[in-house]
Amino acid sequence: MALYTRVSGIVGLITLQNPPVNALSAAVRQGIVDKVETALSDPKVKSVVICGQNGIFCGGADIKEFGAQMTGPPLIPMIHAIEAANKPVVAAIEGSALGGGLELALGCHYRIAHSKARLGLPEVTLGLLPAAGGSQRLPRLIGVPAALNLITTGRHVTAAEALQLGIVDQVTDHNTVDAAVKFALSVAGQSLDARRISTYPCPRPSDLDALFEEVMQKVRQSARGAIAPVACVQAVRAAATLPYTQGMERERELMATLFTSGQARALQYIFFAQRAVGRWRMPSGASWDTSKPRPINKAAVIGLGTMGRGIAVALAQTGLSVVAVETQEKQLMEAKQAVSSMLERGAKRRGVAPALDRISYSQNIQAVADVDLVIEAVFEDMALKMEVFQQLSAFCKPGTLLCTNTSALDVDQLASETPNPELVVGMHFFAPAHVMKLLEVVYGPRSSPQAVATAMQLGKKMGKASVAVGNCRGFVGNRMLRLYVEQASFLLEEGATPELVDRALEEFGFPMGVFRMSDLSGLDVGWRTRKRDGLVESGEASGQSARIRKGYRYSPIGDLICEQGRFGQKTGRGWYQYDKPGGRVARSDPWLHSFLEQYRARHGLVARSIDHQEVLERCLYALINEGFRILEDGIAAGPEDIDVIYVFGYGWPRHRGGPMFYASTVGLAKVLERLEHYHQVHPDVPYLQPCGLLRRLVASGSPPVHRWREVINKLHSQL
Ligand code: COA
Ligand code: ADP
Repeated sequence: MALYTRVSGIVGLITLQNPPVNALSAAVRQGIVDKVETALSDPKVKSVVICGQNGIFCGGADIKEFGAQMTGPPLIPMIHAIEAANKPVVAAIEGSALGGGLELALGCHYRIAHSKARLGLPEVTLGLLPAAGGSQRLPRLIGVPAALNLITTGRHVTAAEALQLGIVDQVTDHNTVDAAVKFALSVAGQSLDARRISTYPCPRPSDLDALFEEVMQKVRQSARGAIAPVACVQAVRAAATLPYTQGMERERELMATLFTSGQARALQYIFFAQRAVGRWRMPSGASWDTSKPRPINKAAVIGLGTMGRGIAVALAQTGLSVVAVETQEKQLMEAKQAVSSMLERGAKRRGVAPALDRISYSQNIQAVADVDLVIEAVFEDMALKMEVFQQLSAFCKPGTLLCTNTSALDVDQLASETPNPELVVGMHFFAPAHVMKLLEVVYGPRSSPQAVATAMQLGKKMGKASVAVGNCRGFVGNRMLRLYVEQASFLLEEGATPELVDRALEEFGFPMGVFRMSDLSGLDVGWRTRKRDGLVESGEASGQSARIRKGYRYSPIGDLICEQGRFGQKTGRGWYQYDKPGGRVARSDPWLHSFLEQYRARHGLVARSIDHQEVLERCLYALINEGFRILEDGIAAGPEDIDVIYVFGYGWPRHRGGPMFYASTVGLAKVLERLEHYHQVHPDVPYLQPCGLLRRLVASGSPPVHRWREVINKLHSQL
C-alpha cells in the first residue's frame, strides 16, 4: 500500500498506493510507517519524497473506515514521526491533498505542488474537524484568519492560492515528483529546525478575542445548527491560545464529540449518496455501467428567460459551443447582456478568461441544425413546448438529443411529438441554473438508456449533482414539495402565522422557511398552475365548501393572497412585506395577520396554538411520506436519490442527511405513528395516510437506510 524506491542515489521515494484516491486506510498508514522507517534507517538516503500514485497525492482519511473499529497505526504519531525525522521529507502534491492528505503534507518539512493541484481540509463537510494536527499546524503556518477560513468552510484552494497563503513552498507545471526529488537533493543535509510546523509559535492577532467572537457569530449563523463548524473554530482558538501539545489534546477532545455524532453520520451518508446517484439504474434494468453516453460538443438552448440564460452559461462554462435561440428581439438583447455579464463574473471568480465567444445567438430555431443536444427552456406551457419539439425534430440533424427543462410537465407527451421518442429526456435545472447544484434527469418510458447516460454525463461535467428519476407530475423534488407547502397553508388556517412556521423550519436548518421561500420564488407561479388544474374555482356557487376540491381538503389562502396582487418579493408584498418591489428583507405584515383572522372567522375556524414540533411533523412527514410513495412507484431508485435532490436543490440541511435519512434517524416506527395520528385527525387529507412501503419497512424491523433497496426490490418483484 506504499511503494519504496531509491532515486538519484540518495532520495528515498515513498509512493502511496490505494486507488482511486490513495485514502489513508490502515494498510496505507502501515505502509507509510514502514517505508519511512526504511528510508530513515538507510544511511545512503539523505532525504525523502512522499507522493501518491496515479496523479493524486491523497484524498485523506479513508471515510469507509469511520463506521468500523479502527485498526492499524494511528495517523497522529505517524505524522509526528515524519516531522521529527532528521532527514528532510518533501511532499510531492499532484491532484489533491485533502483532509488527512494535507495533514500528512503539513507534517513534511517541504511541500511542492503541481499547478493543477487542489488542497484543503474538508473534514467540516463530513461533520468532523482536521484532527491529525491540521487544526493546530495550519494556523501556525498561515495565520489564524486564513486557517479559520479554510477549516470552517472546508473549501479547496488551488496550488496558486496555496502558494500565496504559504501552504506550499513551490508550484510546478512539470512532473511534480521530479521537481520534488530535485528539491529534496538541494536540501539534503540542511538543518530542519525551522521546518517543523508544530514548533512554530501561532501568530496571535492583537484583537484575538474580538476576532474569534466575530468568526464564531458568523459561523453559528451560517452553520444553521451544524456542530462541526463551531468545533473547528474552537480547535483553531486552541491553536492560537495554547501550546502545541495542549492544543492537540483539545483537538482530540473536540473530535471525540464529533466523530460519533449523528451529524457526522448524516454528512458522510450524503458524501457517499452523492456518488451513489451517479450509478443510476432504470426500472428496465438499464444502468450507468451498461450505457455509453454520446459525445456532446455543441448544444443549443431554446428560450432565454431566467432558466435558459443560466443553462447557456453553465453549458459554455463546461467548454461546449452553445447556440442560444430566443424569438423575442427585446428578450434576446437583454439575454445577451445578462449572459455575458454572468460569464464575466464567473470567469473573474475562477481566474479564467470568460467564454463569451462560445455562445452564438439567433432568433431562428433553424440555427439548431448542427448541434448534438438541445435543451428547451421556453414558457412552461405544454402546447408551446409541443410545437417547439415538432420544430426541433424537423431542423435538428438525426440523432440529436432533445431535452426539456420542464419542472413538471409530462416528458413522454413531449416525446410523442417527435419521430424518435427514445432521444427525449427531461433536464430539470433549478434557478439560477448556472449556480444551483441540482439536476433532475427525467426519463420517460421510451427514453433510451443512452439518452439518460448522455444527460447524466453532461450534468456531471457541469458540476451538478445529477439524479436520474422517472416521469411523473413534479418528478421527485416538486412532487414532494407540493405537500410540504400545502401542509404549511393548512397550519395557517388552523392558527399558525407565516412567521411561526418559518421559524420552526429555519431552526430545523432550512435556509428559508416555506413562506419566505415562496415569496422569493413568486406566488403567482403556483397560482397559475392551480388555475390550469381547475383548483382555484371554488364551486361555492353550487353550494360546495370553499375549502374542498374533488372531495378533499384544499386551502384557498394562497389564491386569495394572489388575487390581492401579492406575488411575493417582486411585488413588495406576499406572505411578508418588503421595503419595495424586489426588496429582500422580509418583515411581518399586520395586513396579513388580520387577513388570516378574517379568513378564519369567515370559515368558522377557531385558531389554536400550534407548536414547532407540530409544524415539523406536519410539513416534513407529509413530504417524507410522499418520498416513500416515490420509492414504491419506482420514480426514484433509492433513498439516496431523494436525499441528494433535497440537500442539493431544496435547502434541506445537509447535516440532517436528506428527508429519507432523517426519517431513519427519527425512527420509521415513530414517523409511521405520527402519520397515522395526523391522518386520523385530518381524514380529508389523503396523502397523510402512511405509505405501504413505510409500513413494510417498519414491519421488516426498520432496516438502516442503506438496506431499504432490498425491501423495495422485493416489493417491486411481487408487483
Ligand atoms: N475515503 C474513502 N473513499 C473515498 C475517499 C476517502 N477519503 N475519497 C474518495 N473516495 C472514494 C469515493 O467514494 C469514490 O468511490 P466510488 O467510486 O466507489 O463511488 C471514489 O473514491 C472516487 O471519488 P470521486 O469523488 O468520485 O472522485 P473525484 O476524482 O471526483 O474526486 C476527491 C476526488 C479526492 C477530490 C474527492 O473524492 C473527495 O473530495 N474526497 C473526500 C476528501 C475528504 O473529504 N477527505 C477528508 C476525509 S476526513
Ligand atoms: P423562465 O426561464 O424564468 O421560466 P420564461 O418562461 O419567461 O422564463 O422564459 C421563456 C423564454 O422563452 C421567453 O424569453 C420567451 O420569449 C422564449 N420563447 C418562447 N417561445 C419560444 C420559441 N418558440 N423559441 C424560442 N424562444 C421562445
